[in-house]
Amino acid sequence: MTIPAPLGMLAELTHSCPLHCAYCSNPVELVAGTDELSTAGWVSVFAAAAALGVAQVHLSGGEPLRRRDLPELSAACRERGLYTNLITSGVGLTGERLAALAVDHVQLSVQDADPEGAARISATRTWRQKLAAARVVKERGLPLTVNVVLHRHNVDHVESLVALAERMGADRLELAHTQYYGWALRNRDWLLATAAQVRAADAVVRAAAARLAGRIELAYVSPDLHTGWPKPCMDGWGRRQLTVTPSGNVLPCPVADLLPDLTVENVRYRPLRAIWYESESFNRFRGTDWMREPCRSCPRRDVDLGGCRCQAYQFTGDAAVTDPACRYSPHRPLVEAVLGAAERSVGGPPGHRRR
Ligand code: SF4
Ligand code: FES
Repeated sequence: MTIPAPLGMLAELTHSCPLHCAYCSNPVELVAGTDELSTAGWVSVFAAAAALGVAQVHLSGGEPLRRRDLPELSAACRERGLYTNLITSGVGLTGERLAALAVDHVQLSVQDADPEGAARISATRTWRQKLAAARVVKERGLPLTVNVVLHRHNVDHVESLVALAERMGADRLELAHTQYYGWALRNRDWLLATAAQVRAADAVVRAAAARLAGRIELAYVSPDLHTGWPKPCMDGWGRRQLTVTPSGNVLPCPVADLLPDLTVENVRYRPLRAIWYESESFNRFRGTDWMREPCRSCPRRDVDLGGCRCQAYQFTGDAAVTDPACRYSPHRPLVEAVLGAAERSVGGPPGHRRR
């Protein structure tokens, strides 16, 4: 099998963040500031990524604005011709700060359609700062994506969230149901929407997409647990994307280090190119040869690539089985049990991530 060059790199510059969202997919054990890659370390990662063929870098975290060297880091991306997307909570994104950054696009997280709801999920009061951040992005003429993670406590507000994105001047709105990793997995019972909520949200999204066509691009990520159709996670393991964590670990997906037997490589000790092409971790689930039944003979295997390896592991303890989100998985009853519990009661209270 020919291994393609990666298209995108998620650069998690730091796990530090002013928000404490209960749906955060960062690991429960966050990387300490003292273990983060230095400025020079990140600059050499960007150079290696560009040489490898990466076209887009997503500067993320945590909150990337927490890195005081963000101007140098973004400039290093621009120098190498990398299209640079800043993924931010908006906290600290003043006009002055943005003017010092060499970024091509900003993705702003929004937690809910009103200040109270947003404070409940993020355990912070940052409403005004987000509105101000959206303003400075538009004033600078940069494209703006508003990203909302949907869950039981905001999924009934989709219409108001769409209206908010319109007020903010968003060019694109992403409405994505929660993916259950890290802190989100810990808070799953509290976050899981009911089937009726999901059906209602689907209808609102369909109507909004028709109304916004040609003005705002609306991207909707359905909840795989509810639909019974797994997501083609990362567009395929080791196919298009890689993640570099704050300490320099290089992963096929942002949470792959939860797989206990995966040999995690680090840019401090091995070149990025060798990690992408040769490492055991990137090759383990590349392509379709690793698949077992029912995926192996399934007509959808090239559509969803067997779903998510990390979710398979979290539900079954075996990362190589069919994603239990799938309606054909023999482990689907494990998902049904979780969904059934969510229909009966709300878990909680949530544990808010720290730092
Ligand atoms: Fe996808 Fe495998 Fe389910 Fe088929 S059996 S739909 S390939 S996850
Ligand atoms: Fe790791 Fe899906 S999150 S493969």
